[in-house]
Amino acid sequence: IKRVTTNTILGMKQTGEKISMLTAYDFSTAKALDEAGIDILLVGDSAANVFAGYETTLPITLDNMIYHASAVARGTKRALVLVDLPFGEYQGTSEDAFKAAVRMMKESGAHALKLEGGVEILENIKKIIDAGIPVCGHLGLTPQSINKFGTFGVRAQEEAEAAKLKSDALALQEIGCFAVVLEKIPAKLAQEVSASVAIPTIGIGAGNGCDGQVLVVNDMLGFTKDFKPKFLRRYMDMYGDMVQAASQYAADVKAGTYPNEQEQY
Ligand code: KIV
Ligand code: NA
Repeated sequence: IKRVTTNTILGMKQTGEKISMLTAYDFSTAKALDEAGIDILLVGDSAANVFAGYETTLPITLDNMIYHASAVARGTKRALVLVDLPFGEYQGTSEDAFKAAVRMMKESGAHALKLEGGVEILENIKKIIDAGIPVCGHLGLTPQSINKFGTFGVRAQEEAEAAKLKSDALALQEIGCFAVVLEKIPAKLAQEVSASVAIPTIGIGAGNGCDGQVLVVNDMLGFTKDFKPKFLRRYMDMYGDMVQAASQYAADVKAGTYPNEQEQY
């Protein structure tokens, strides 16, 4: 099996092959998604939400992310493993950002890192890329800035923010990012950005004009029960199936029908 690299991803944009990306936070899930042929597994800081139960992504630590990322990396043979740097690790000095990036690469087996933001963090991204670490940008709804935004609503609906997003995407390309995630922005804007840059855009809630798509795996499997944004397509009712399976197990134990003759030594 040939490993997907940042060059493979760039080649997909050039040939018009759409890029598939899903999040993963643990070994077993990563193994299944890798076998399914998902191109990029994103160890998202959304682990703070769907794994740990926090309301925002702010509390997750670099150590937490290294733990998740190393588990995912051990579960993949083909997928490119992309890992979020968590809030606070790359918004200060470029020296601190660089140190966090190097720790993640050394300790997790990640192949590339994702950082939220545009011009504000450009120098910090450059220092990381210059060290040979591939970086994916992330524009639009950047959840680490939720306290600035105030809501998880659609971004860049007004001209000023849309114009900044367009120039940020160009700046990220210029600095050497290999891709950029566009989260929750109008489809028309995402389409325009995708056409204006040579690097692939990966959308979530950003319409069909992006070069690839990403979803949080817990959401697309229906494991998160109450999260139902318009952009989400569910491919399973994992929550319902788990409740059913666990109820059946409990009933079998109570009834004394588990384990049976064949299930004991
Ligand atoms: O953390 C995450 O899951 C993400 C995706 C939604 C892009 O950043
Ligand atoms: Na994230």
